[in-house]
Amino acid sequence: MSRATTFGTRADAYDRLRPGPAPEALDHVVPPGSRRVADLAAGTGLVTRAVLGRADAPVVVAVEPDPRMLARLAVTTPGALPVRGLAEAIPLASGALDAVLASSAWHWFDPPTATAEIARVLRPGGALGLLWSRADPTVDWVAEVRGIGRAAADGSARLSRRGFDVELPPGHGFVDELPQAVTVRWARIMTRDDVAGMVCTYSGVLELPAADQEAVHRAARKYLDRTFPGDEALEVPFETVVRRWTRS
Ligand SMILES: C[S@@+](CC[C@H](N)C(=O)[O-])C[C@H]1O[C@@H](n2cnc3c(N)ncnc32)[C@H](O)[C@@H]1O
Repeated sequence: MSRATTFGTRADAYDRLRPGPAPEALDHVVPPGSRRVADLAAGTGLVTRAVLGRADAPVVVAVEPDPRMLARLAVTTPGALPVRGLAEAIPLASGALDAVLASSAWHWFDPPTATAEIARVLRPGGALGLLWSRADPTVDWVAEVRGIGRAAADGSARLSRRGFDVELPPGHGFVDELPQAVTVRWARIMTRDDVAGMVCTYSGVLELPAADQEAVHRAARKYLDRTFPGDEALEVPFETVVRRWTRS
């Protein structure tokens, strides 16, 4: 099993515990008047649902290679058009889309091939939006509890290695509209158990044997019990970071 296909082993937990985007973050990546949008690497539909929930929602094609994630998306995200496909081979017509989104996924793509494909399916003037949503790592306890998962994995979370400073390969006519990225901070209430579960939805943990995944869950839970004695419900700080390019 490759790391990119670990999420499907826990698609239900992924969908329940991982964050969708802050709704206002989508204002930066879904151009007004968009009629047709693709959510690439749509997973279980966290971003697809958020786009479908917008006023004057466009049609959203959810492109995802893992059938287990797509099966979950079909249940959780009525109204989406689920399609099996890769960022490097998007099964959509050329020039068909007003926007392409990819959330917490760019690091899984082959940038030259995916960029060429995204340029092909976007209409001129269409937008590419990259998003990353995660518990806010600048908050000490969040960093500590995520660190438990990272330490049990190999410590090489791909996001922290490759970050948000994406540079698209040249030659495809993309103009970088938000080089500094926009960060939207928000929060949601979660139980301690769900926070420990969320730590276990990252690929480095998901590829461990089941017993080791359970050990990560127990260690995260223990840390949270110690840090927040008595508080079952926690206000968890999140951030959604967005970048946007326009295809000329
Ligand atoms: C961390 S999940 C993100 C899912 C969703 N976008 C979200 O924000 O919750 C990464 C997803 O990328 C998908 N993926 C991995 N490699 C891919 C590729 N080359 N093209 C498209 N999707 C890919 C995985 O199957 C998985 O569903």
